[in-house]
Amino acid sequence: MHKLNIRAARHDDIDRIMELEDDGFHQRIQEDKSVMLERMQHFPAGFLVLVNDSDLATGYLCSELWDSDGSLQESAFALGHDIKDTHRSNGSQLYISSMTVAREYRGSGLGKKFFQQSVHMLRTELAQLRGSILLLSAEWTGAHKIYQDSGYTEIARLKDFFAAIATHDADAIIMQTQFSEQR
Ligand SMILES: CC(C)(COP(=O)(O)OP(=O)(O)OC[C@H]1O[C@@H](n2cnc3c(N)ncnc32)[C@H](O)[C@@H]1OP(=O)(O)O)[C@@H](O)C(=O)NCCC(=O)NCCS
Repeated sequence: MHKLNIRAARHDDIDRIMELEDDGFHQRIQEDKSVMLERMQHFPAGFLVLVNDSDLATGYLCSELWDSDGSLQESAFALGHDIKDTHRSNGSQLYISSMTVAREYRGSGLGKKFFQQSVHMLRTELAQLRGSILLLSAEWTGAHKIYQDSGYTEIARLKDFFAAIATHDADAIIMQTQFSEQR
């Protein structure tokens, strides 16, 4: 598979990351710059950007490490939550808190490749990972397809989680996958 140009985000990517956030998500669920910076500083290896030939970020994926005790507290998924409250440096579950690619790059397979190659990079770097978890709106069919094709399955729904932005289905879907030994 063609290897994309993916690297850890740097402080000077932040303005571009905020543009991608604005392009990718409804205003009511966009994260603040301070939240993004905190994520980058607290778990630098988990904040990745997809870059073009000019090293400009055309997508980002950010993540945290969670304990595997299965305590799925709704507050851990909340917009604006502080990564310092949820991230555990020895956690075995990769929680993918957000992912997007710039609008002009969508629809040609890039989102799926970026997601899968990012997860692969993180698994290679973080030997303790045993699985991964994420949350998405029931209305985000493109993202759902990517996660399903990457081995994630639905484990729970949070009713009306996306009430502020939904047009027909406000539920959040929580999806999870277990990693096999093979990377
Ligand atoms: C989700 C997102 C990253 C997908 O990026 P993309 O480059 O368009 O995705 P791809 O082209 O790789 O598409 C992956 C698959 O989903 C399918 N797909 C894409 N958009 C779709 C849609 N709106 N409805 C149904 N299927 C869709 C594609 O056909 C493709 O399927 P295939 O692999 O069987 O051909 C991009 O749309 C985005 O940034 N959206 C805004 C932010 C967002 O929703 N992030 C997810 C947060 S959980």
